[in-house]
Amino acid sequence: MIDQPVMLIAGGSGSIGQACAREALAQGWAVALQGKTPEKLAALEVELGKLGTVECFEADVHAPDCATTLVAEVAERFGRIDAVVDSVASGVPGITGLFQDTDPAAFTPFYDVTTGWLLRLSHAAYPHLKVRGGTIISFVADAGIFAAPHQTGTGPARAACIGFIRNLSREAGRDGVRAHVVSVSYVEGSDIVARIGPKRMETARRRAGLGLPYPEDIAPTVVFLCSDKAAKMTGQVISINGGLNA
Ligand SMILES: NC(=O)c1ccc[n+]([C@@H]2O[C@H](COP(=O)([O-])OP(=O)(O)OC[C@H]3O[C@@H](n4cnc5c(N)ncnc54)[C@H](OP(=O)(O)O)[C@@H]3O)[C@@H](O)[C@H]2O)c1
Repeated sequence: MIDQPVMLIAGGSGSIGQACAREALAQGWAVALQGKTPEKLAALEVELGKLGTVECFEADVHAPDCATTLVAEVAERFGRIDAVVDSVASGVPGITGLFQDTDPAAFTPFYDVTTGWLLRLSHAAYPHLKVRGGTIISFVADAGIFAAPHQTGTGPARAACIGFIRNLSREAGRDGVRAHVVSVSYVEGSDIVARIGPKRMETARRRAGLGLPYPEDIAPTVVFLCSDKAAKMTGQVISINGGLNA
């Protein structure tokens, strides 16, 4: 068994997940990094491997038993799991837009790959987390907290993630397991922003008094929440949005 704490970052090959991995490695964690694209994972294993102990795991959240298989592989490789960060972003066509332009049928699959996936991942990892008192971090979008147009499909699914984490935190404390939500809105330099387009980004930049965050502005909070320094915190919902929403 490895003598460093192990952080499993689902969606670790994404913009925010990669920043979390770099920060965790800098803070002495070993990182198990999940992504979907093998070529991206191979490159990241080499790049991040220069910073510390990292191993990449290919998994598709749509596959049956993805969460249990992923957790079992990580546990077998490292012998322990001390934190799980869910940073997977798996879009579903038709889920965003003005309500009348969305497809109601898109909600069930979106709910399944957001809230359902978070539940399955947390359930699989829980026995490992309770060995030493670990942490679950769920990334969500601000639409789960703050009302916004175009988000009638995504908002309820993200709000459900928050409901799950807050309820879990009340009972998991007895096992020493903590759980938090980190919410983001528009993140500079991230892949999602490229999909949103320049017009909406400019509007968000004007509204965010502190300036929109980069992934590197988000990662330190995640690693802090997973650390012993945050041992008495649980069930919190923290939005890192540069002052865009409050
Ligand atoms: N960036 C933003 O502005 C923004 C705004 C609101 C909310 N968020 C939330 O913040 C979190 C992280 O976002 P991000 O910007 O880092 O996203 P991202 O860069 O698009 O990364 C998404 C991650 O999810 C993985 N993934 C996608 N589909 C998958 C599938 N079917 N099975 C398994 N893994 C899959 C990707 O793997 P590959 O790399 O192999 O594709 C990647 O690791 C997400 O919860 C997202 O919804 C972000």
